[in-house]
Amino acid sequence: MPEMFHRKIERSAVLFVLAIIAAASVGGIIEIAPLFTIDETVEEAPDMRMYTPLELAGRNIYIREGCYACHSQMIRTLRDEVERYGPYSLAVESRYDRPMLWGSKRTGPDLARVGGKYSDFWHVAHLTNPRDVVPESNMPAYAFLARNQLRTEDLRDHLAVQRTLGVPYTEEMVENAARDAYGQATPDTDFAAGVTERYGDATQVSAFDGVTTHVTEMDALVAYLQILGRLTNAAYRDTAATEKPPEAQD
Ligand code: HEC
Repeated sequence: MPEMFHRKIERSAVLFVLAIIAAASVGGIIEIAPLFTIDETVEEAPDMRMYTPLELAGRNIYIREGCYACHSQMIRTLRDEVERYGPYSLAVESRYDRPMLWGSKRTGPDLARVGGKYSDFWHVAHLTNPRDVVPESNMPAYAFLARNQLRTEDLRDHLAVQRTLGVPYTEEMVENAARDAYGQATPDTDFAAGVTERYGDATQVSAFDGVTTHVTEMDALVAYLQILGRLTNAAYRDTAATEKPPEAQD
């Protein structure tokens, strides 16, 4: 009997097409249905801030250098991950990540909450030659980043594009993108004050690579690494985690 049924369907193009549509739509619904409730499932995070232009530039370098090929940015709800990396990642934490960098390959550790775990100095040493700080590391060296001056002239357009994608950058932020990128890596200048004014006091203004005469790709990448997991405190509020984020400890 099932054979007869099969034979009949296979021999009729119309029936067969209908059967394919029915089978494919079940898979489709399973993928699409969760999006119907996206407004309720994405957590609230009123304290959420956006990436500064320097951090955004660092994020682009992270993508350019393929860091995501070895590092994920997504802590799963499994106990071993939570114990190692901190509270599991929430959807809202990726709200301004365009494109998202969750990744699936972990040759190195997850970086979703690496911000504040190490000093800027550690990151510079590690990126310059990972073996200097972690002798058994097989991560490639990125020493050239400290020699490359950061391109800032296209940051304005970059912020504007992010805005069309839904990231709420103000006109003022877009206009000042290049100045703010410079200011965040040069404390003690007038430019630095503008960054905290626009992006909030929690913004880390620092001579990331130790040199304040010019802004390098190293500055941008370290600024980005240091903000990972710190755009909002939502994960620490909504989970059972008792541990506080690094910035709240001092
Ligand atoms: C070939 C794989 C590979 C690539 C590509 C890679 N890493 Fe790594 N990374 C590792 C491994 C393995 C470790 C663990 C050993 C160590 O700390 O060096 C690591 C560790 C790290 C750590 C320390 C994490 C912690 O919690 O201790 C940071 C930060 C980091 N990598 C950033 C980067 C950045 C930024 C890039 C891109 C510029 C990058 N990595 C590219 C493999 C890689």
